[in-house]
Amino acid sequence: MTSAAARGGRSGGAGAGDRSWPKAGRFSLDDNLAYAEWRDQTLARRPTMAEDLVVEVRDLAAPTPSERAEILRRIDAANMALYATNADAGDDELSRRDLIAFGAAFGMVAIEDHRSAGADGIVRIEVVDHGGRLGYIPYTDRAINWHTDGYYNFHGPDRAIAAMLLHCRRPAASGGINRLLDPEIAYIRLRDEDPSLIEALMRGDAMTIPAGEEAGGRPRPDNVGPVFFVHPRTGALGMRFTARKRNVVWRDDPLTHRAVQSLLGVLHDDPLIVETRLAAREGVICNNVLHDRSVFSGGGRLLYRVRYTDRVGRPGALS
Ligand SMILES: [Fe+2]
Repeated sequence: MTSAAARGGRSGGAGAGDRSWPKAGRFSLDDNLAYAEWRDQTLARRPTMAEDLVVEVRDLAAPTPSERAEILRRIDAANMALYATNADAGDDELSRRDLIAFGAAFGMVAIEDHRSAGADGIVRIEVVDHGGRLGYIPYTDRAINWHTDGYYNFHGPDRAIAAMLLHCRRPAASGGINRLLDPEIAYIRLRDEDPSLIEALMRGDAMTIPAGEEAGGRPRPDNVGPVFFVHPRTGALGMRFTARKRNVVWRDDPLTHRAVQSLLGVLHDDPLIVETRLAAREGVICNNVLHDRSVFSGGGRLLYRVRYTDRVGRPGALS
């Protein structure tokens, strides 16, 4: 196999003082051997079908050791798993409690403080016609373009949204399909095309979300940050991205614009994009993977979403 990584070299871009990739390891642009080894392992173990990601969970509030192991195996391989459970509490409060317990079984406890969350940290993703969520695309029946969660509220790798649960209570009558892509695959595609595209997207000023107003009128300043970043403690790759055209300002240089176009190309038709339409009592557990949503109608679609600054993991394990 010949890869861009093995060939090495970069076609210009940031100067040495601007480098924002790690000194060593798989995400260092100076360590092509480590990258090539990780890349080959990552692609070799990658599930290609949504069905390969599904794990049946009998009781969401208390996944068994084997159910947990099956989910973690998929997280290790793809940074995401799909779960399905038959046992549904039916009751809204009970269902919410089960979901929080499910996250905690994977060490997910640091829940984002979101303006629209309930006291337990769960945000209801549904169509609204009044209240603080009105006017925001997630709470309509419209399509949502590719993004990672929390891209507009980045305050360093430590505080970034690292994981997410998306749990379906009620599907739409039609539509509401989610496509999912692991950021590691996006990284690999771009680095193999040209490592300088990664260099551009790891810059700390690659993507700016201009100042705006949050629901409730609270002002939010410009949010500036990279697209790809590496968590300093875990060494994990994080990603901050939106494919929306409005309300995003890209660093104004040819390399950044080329990198964004390449990324959009990957999101258009990469063979490792997974597509799913969640039914009731099904959900996604993931390390904040790229995702979108198609338009939907009818059925009173209701999803619960919980976002965490922890990655999906093994509580009690040394890491
Ligand atoms: Fe999202």
